Amino acid sequence: MEPILEVKKLRKSYLSKGKPVEAVKGIDLEIRRGEIFGFLGPNGAGKTTTLRMLSSLLVPDGGEARIAGYDLLRQPEKVRTRIGYVSQTGGSDRMATARENLYLQARLYGMAGKSARERTAAMIMAFDLDEIADRKVVTYSGGQHRRLDVALGMVHKPELLFLDEPTTGLDPQNRSRLWKEVWRLRDEGVTVFLTTHYMDEADMLSDRVAIMDRGEIVAEGTPSGLKKRIEEDTIILGLEKNGAVTEQAKQFLTGLPFVREAVQNRDKLLLMVRDGETRLPQILRLLDQHQIGLKTITLSQPTLDDVFMKETGHALHDAEKDLNR
Ligand SMILES: Nc1ncnc2c1ncn2[C@@H]1O[C@H](COP(=O)(O)OP(=O)(O)O)[C@@H](O)[C@H]1O
Ligand SMILES: [Mg+2]
Repeated sequence: MEPILEVKKLRKSYLSKGKPVEAVKGIDLEIRRGEIFGFLGPNGAGKTTTLRMLSSLLVPDGGEARIAGYDLLRQPEKVRTRIGYVSQTGGSDRMATARENLYLQARLYGMAGKSARERTAAMIMAFDLDEIADRKVVTYSGGQHRRLDVALGMVHKPELLFLDEPTTGLDPQNRSRLWKEVWRLRDEGVTVFLTTHYMDEADMLSDRVAIMDRGEIVAEGTPSGLKKRIEEDTIILGLEKNGAVTEQAKQFLTGLPFVREAVQNRDKLLLMVRDGETRLPQILRLLDQHQIGLKTITLSQPTLDDVFMKETGHALHDAEKDLNR
């Protein structure tokens, strides 16, 4: 099936104090129908610039994009009917109610009064806004406000929804509630392209992820595929006795082909292991065979932070500090 979004060599520079800033340096992207695609990167990476170009709100300096079957540069008005865009700050009128905002949006997309009213009611139900629908937006909590923003982006039934940092500033409870909304949209067949600077969010929420740093895509794949590139897990064994027994355990574990390194600290043994998840049972059997008692065991797998670090040479949140220098 044709991808819903295909981007080649997309780029954009801004002039900042007379100097060009290359915000997006010629990126390629491909998004499949029905997936949740996460765009992970620190502040200033170029995520918003990319999303604004793909939503036809900003003209690229170069490159091409096909979105939902149309050429972004030649048929932007066609593209606009197929996509929804929710900006970082949202697009609601804060002095109006959710119902008024949704109704206006429906009318702007050309729906007649009756169908606009029906669509408004359906969106209020779908996004669980019924209790607050007739209150002014200024009175909403962060989570309610964000749900309305997403609802506004969905009024005209887009095939592809762009969400720019949908959960920034939300507390953990509202964050996971919004994740559920996004999963629900995907289950209804909507393709979702969202940006985030939260590593755990990109990991949990997305089917595929692109990691962006300084205007470039440095890695792309499924969260688990990306983490596999790190290749090493850490296993920490807490043994029953220290001394000679731990030393013995360290000896034979170091000899295993998939153990790269073993470090001992009293009764704790830290192992750097390839494919730790599947090796763990084998390690446990060996300890058993040598009659070495085990008190505790932990397996830590790499995170997308580790992937970011490997690909860019700096930590995700250091990158933000760099920009403020
Ligand atoms: N209107 C603008 N004028 C000048 N520079 C801009 C403008 N918008 C963004 N930038 C710069 O472009 C880079 C990318 O910004 P942005 O796309 O907002 O990144 P992100 O959304 O990942 O935080 C940053 O260096 C930012 O300062
Ligand atoms: Mg942004």
